[in-house]
Amino acid sequence: MRPVLTAVAWPYANGPRHIGHVSGFGVPSDVFSRFMRMSGHDVLMVSGTDEHGTPILVQAEHEGVSPKQLADRYNRVIVEDLHALGLSYDLFTRTSTRNHYAVAQEMFRTLHRNGYMVSRTMLGAISPSTGRTLPDRFIEGTCPICGYDGARGDQCDSCGNQLDPTDLGNPRSRINGEVPQFVETEHFFLDLPALAEALGAWLSTRTDWRPNVLKFSLNLLEDLRPRAMTRDIDWGIPVPLPGWEDNPAKRLYVWFDAVIGYLSASVEWARRRGDDDAWRRFWCDPQARSYYFMGKDNITFHSQIWPAELLGYNGRGARGGSPGPLGPLQLPTEVVSSEFLTMEGRKFSSSRGVVIYVNDFLSRYDADPLRYFIAVAGPEAQDTDFTWAEFLRRNNDELVAGWGNLVNRTASLIAANLGAIPAAGELTVEDRRLLAETGNAFATIGELIGRHRQKHAISEAMRVVGEANKYLSDQAPWKLKEADPVRMGTVLHVAAQAISDANTLLSPFLPHAAQTVHETFGGTGTFSPMPEIVEVTDLDDGTPYPVLMGDYTGASWASEPVRPGTPVAPPTPIFRKLDPSVVAEELARLEARADGA
Ligand code: MF3
Ligand code: ZN
Repeated sequence: MRPVLTAVAWPYANGPRHIGHVSGFGVPSDVFSRFMRMSGHDVLMVSGTDEHGTPILVQAEHEGVSPKQLADRYNRVIVEDLHALGLSYDLFTRTSTRNHYAVAQEMFRTLHRNGYMVSRTMLGAISPSTGRTLPDRFIEGTCPICGYDGARGDQCDSCGNQLDPTDLGNPRSRINGEVPQFVETEHFFLDLPALAEALGAWLSTRTDWRPNVLKFSLNLLEDLRPRAMTRDIDWGIPVPLPGWEDNPAKRLYVWFDAVIGYLSASVEWARRRGDDDAWRRFWCDPQARSYYFMGKDNITFHSQIWPAELLGYNGRGARGGSPGPLGPLQLPTEVVSSEFLTMEGRKFSSSRGVVIYVNDFLSRYDADPLRYFIAVAGPEAQDTDFTWAEFLRRNNDELVAGWGNLVNRTASLIAANLGAIPAAGELTVEDRRLLAETGNAFATIGELIGRHRQKHAISEAMRVVGEANKYLSDQAPWKLKEADPVRMGTVLHVAAQAISDANTLLSPFLPHAAQTVHETFGGTGTFSPMPEIVEVTDLDDGTPYPVLMGDYTGASWASEPVRPGTPVAPPTPIFRKLDPSVVAEELARLEARADGA
């Protein structure tokens, strides 16, 4: 079985995450990792908080704290949110660790040694009124590619292209509207043209990506220019070269270091488990596979910048070179990008209050209904809308009345009439048909999750649940108690087996409910493993901070025969039915927040 690296986009530690964020990177990566582990793969799922760059500086200024204090605050909030969602990270760390600094600097040094980091003098923006450098994000103007007037100096949110501030038409400061002044400044550029051929050759082998992701990535090859990988900023990782290292006003670009997090977190994970080289099988073995999960605004950095960093590190571009001590390193197998989730028809916006934060959501609702909504109605291949009415409907009609009802009816009947799972008598055509259906679903659904078709996969699992519900209604075992107790036992045995199978099939999506269902039918031990928050210290000790880790040994992706005689107690409901009044309540809450912002 191949080693599988699940690389999950690193959330900025500049605020709590909202449900749009976790629909892009969080739930899909966890579903995939859980499934792959259940299928016997050796999985390493890593990520952490992204703590550098202007996003952190801006918010720190806004909250009146230092960037470090801000990152500490939201690192903890985000860790708690991801934990509550049951996301099974092998390590969720942060980019402010000494280990991450060392790995990022090593990447930079080897890229530089191999000739792919070239220094250039460019024009940098400063504010004429203060004389301070104006970060790219703070400059706004017209996108030269699509004409959108709200483009930022680093990226256009309309067409997704990366920009330089000097590309913008009619540039102005987002802080005070003044026209920035451009002055000469020296920076290191990643020489993308020198890596263009290698990038193109690699991308041309990536034929099975989602079509929109592949198309977008291939388009990027059309316009490869050197990209600045250092910034005039005082918050970030020092540039590891003589003359630069001690310059407090120059730092590595946040995106240069953030993508390296996948590698540094793997190294940290290996060290924390006391096997320093364990990360290598996920990065250096050509048999290993790597899947990168994110929202679509991150594609450029994962299908262009990160592969280019890796190729340059390996010495595989037009300038040659040789791999650094960590390599040669494998390039991404697949960039699995989602589209965007909107909220009641509007774009999520923390600043405008059009938002529902994960922690707020989970203070009133459970994690699995949210995971379910994201899997079944999330933005897998096109933008989708979260509405409270639809959330309520899916929860009540599908989880409560569908899956929950099947579990409860069956467990109640067994508990009330027999007290334990009965043995099966002779099987009828209907019994065999249902068992064939649930048994065959492992291959179908596994194949769909393996190809990142999670929407289709969960619909298929819920279709099987529907079949089992129909079987139970048709067979009506409650009518057989007096007339044919043996047949009643057979029907309940078959229903229990179908539930056990459906529970395994649904467990990557609904891991909390899966453990409960397992125990409802007398199962013991860990069926559906959960992450743990562990307080750790960095290499240089210092203040403890929380990371997510876990032992993810649990059920296998296979039909497990139910054991007659296993005691079954009267069940408690698996899911909570929501009162229709919550829709109006939540909409009022949203309006109050949007108005107040
Ligand atoms: N912090 C970025 C965002 O929230 C994502 C970084 S992904 C990484 O959009 F790979 F670069 F870490
Ligand atoms: Zn544009």
